[in-house]
Amino acid sequence: ERIIGIMGAMPEEIDGVISLLENPQRAIIGMRSYTSGTINGIRTVVVFSRWGKVAASATAATLIHIYKITELIFTGVAGAIDPTLKIGDIIIAKKLIQHDLDARPLMSRFEIPLLGLTHLECGEGQLDRARHAVTPLITNGILHDTIGKNVLDEFGINTPNLHIGDIASGDQFFSSDLQKQELNEALPTVLCVEMEGAAVAQVCYEHKIPFTVIRTISDTADEKSHVDFPKFIQKVSSQYSVLVIEHLLAN
Ligand code: ADE
Repeated sequence: ERIIGIMGAMPEEIDGVISLLENPQRAIIGMRSYTSGTINGIRTVVVFSRWGKVAASATAATLIHIYKITELIFTGVAGAIDPTLKIGDIIIAKKLIQHDLDARPLMSRFEIPLLGLTHLECGEGQLDRARHAVTPLITNGILHDTIGKNVLDEFGINTPNLHIGDIASGDQFFSSDLQKQELNEALPTVLCVEMEGAAVAQVCYEHKIPFTVIRTISDTADEKSHVDFPKFIQKVSSQYSVLVIEHLLAN
């Protein structure tokens, strides 16, 4: 049987997803509140992971061991690194890299000790499913109709784009052009930055659990991010998460 674990790093995003659950049941484990139930008849567990790689790893491990999930979906926001990305764009992770992992000279930069990998890849099946689920949100105007044009206008969001590519994770909130430039130089294929995805990917890889990471751009990871990030979280990101999950679990 399919059992889906859904994680998000912000309570605002996760509360909306919890409200999609039928017959919700709550349990507290290790300072996290797990709500299990069904969405479209599919057994699902939803949890606010808290921020950062450690918090996310511990939460993913609990979903795997206690809730016996068979797949994991991470939904949340990210800061744009690639200059072509705009606030409101949606990113599906292809590869995930821990940008703050550096055990040189023992091993190469970004290499995960003992796994011998510098990045983890999302499975083709997960990627296809996510692409199919998210594309209509943009091309059929579902995001515009649900969130409302005036709300999107406030963030300068015209037509959000969908990107599939690399995401970097680390225990840092990016709030300067310098941080952004340094990451871009070290990892030129990275589209956006966040604080959990690559950690969850590692735990899932180690337990052979398929995973999907879907992020919406909340800020441009520079001097403006401390203003844009909370504003986006407060006003729109939860609606993005709910739409993404509804569409992912529709098939
Ligand atoms: N998640 C959303 N915006 C971010 C930023 N600027 N840095 C790190 N994680 C983020």
